[in-house]
Amino acid sequence: MRLELPRHAERFGANIIHDIQKVYELDAGNVIDQQFSDPFHVVQQVSAEQLHEVESQMAIIIPVKNERLRLLEGILYGIPHYCLPIIVSNSSRNEIDRFRLEQNVVENYCRFAKKNYLLVHQKDPVLALAFEKAGYPHMHDEAGLLRNGKAEGMLLGIALARAMGKKYVGFIDADNYFPGGVFEYVRIYSATMAKAGSDYAMTRILWHSKPKIVDDQLFFAKYGRVSRITNNYLNLFASQHTGFETSILKTGNAGEHALSMPLALELDYSAGFSVETYHFINMFEKFGGILPCPCPDVMKSGVHIYQVESRNPHLHEAKGDEHLHEMIEYSLAVIYHSPLCMPALKQEILEELHRQKILELGQEPLRPRIYPSLKTIDWNIFSGHLDFSDISNVQHTFIQN
Ligand code: GDD
Ligand code: MG
Repeated sequence: MRLELPRHAERFGANIIHDIQKVYELDAGNVIDQQFSDPFHVVQQVSAEQLHEVESQMAIIIPVKNERLRLLEGILYGIPHYCLPIIVSNSSRNEIDRFRLEQNVVENYCRFAKKNYLLVHQKDPVLALAFEKAGYPHMHDEAGLLRNGKAEGMLLGIALARAMGKKYVGFIDADNYFPGGVFEYVRIYSATMAKAGSDYAMTRILWHSKPKIVDDQLFFAKYGRVSRITNNYLNLFASQHTGFETSILKTGNAGEHALSMPLALELDYSAGFSVETYHFINMFEKFGGILPCPCPDVMKSGVHIYQVESRNPHLHEAKGDEHLHEMIEYSLAVIYHSPLCMPALKQEILEELHRQKILELGQEPLRPRIYPSLKTIDWNIFSGHLDFSDISNVQHTFIQN
């Protein structure tokens, strides 16, 4: 793969946020061209070996809740062979047991492709027990099972990847129509992780475009309604602390993102659809140098955040206005409730939520649940509760009943 070098970056304490990098070639051949090592070259080449090295240590976590089976299957086609797909389902199991149908599709595909995988259901009591016994009771609901939500599924996926000894995690939504797009996202993850400037790294995808039909014509929109709003307030948040206006944050809602395992275990997570916006807020809070930092190692190494624009357009399921409103409220809520959010910005956020007809005047945004970092988990106990006897050949659906 050939990727534009990260040229412009802005620092917020130990966070180094790189501006958008473009993809120049999806496949750069297998001969390293030394000219790309020239310090004045603007594009870097990542060799096939480097990509495969990272991919063999990477789990791709696919959160899924009642998506079309054909789409879920398509995702699997797009994941490079060496990556381990971890499918975390929260699909309904009532009249129609959608999880069984998913299991069928995944098992069939992976048998023919000779591909390892892990498929779990978020409500499996064994998983809830493993978290509880390993000292992480934070995600449990009143029934003692893991809570609903995309972030909750992601945390479960990270814990499973850690238990499988993976060094990187990447996330891909299950409602993507283009397997070729999925392939490109994962390649972007492995290329940036292979070249990352520190053990603490995150890559966030900026979709090239999102095709829609407008007046009977295809229109390739650049930013979605939610991202436009989230990015604006994230940039205002950052600007208020540095004193310099910025527009560097362009991926506030990047559902497609990857993390090195050390960073994934260090971060706190916010519930549901606020999870991606909260990554930035949590990194400003933890590593921004304003509040006391609980992790000196991270401060020394620095945290590199890469934002990469894909070439493929992104086409996923349209989920309606109510869903978009929920995402806007959750995204702005985590900015609003940060101890670093200044009063003037809080006021602007309230006005925005009022303009969007999400909140009445005088109402405050909800306060999403925050899950503390996973690093306190006792991994021996966690794995001991799950039967990963042969982790070199995982073809496994994890379910009790
Ligand atoms: N395991 C699990 N548990 N998965 C879930 C749950 C849950 O409770 N709820 C939703 N999912 C899955 C969906 O099936 C889908 O694969 C993925 O999470 C994202 O959910 P969508 O409903 O498709 O969200 P979206 O398309 O509106 O938003 C996505 O893109 C945004 C950026 O535009 C999400 O990834 C957002 O987090 C992201 O900000
Ligand atoms: Mg979607």
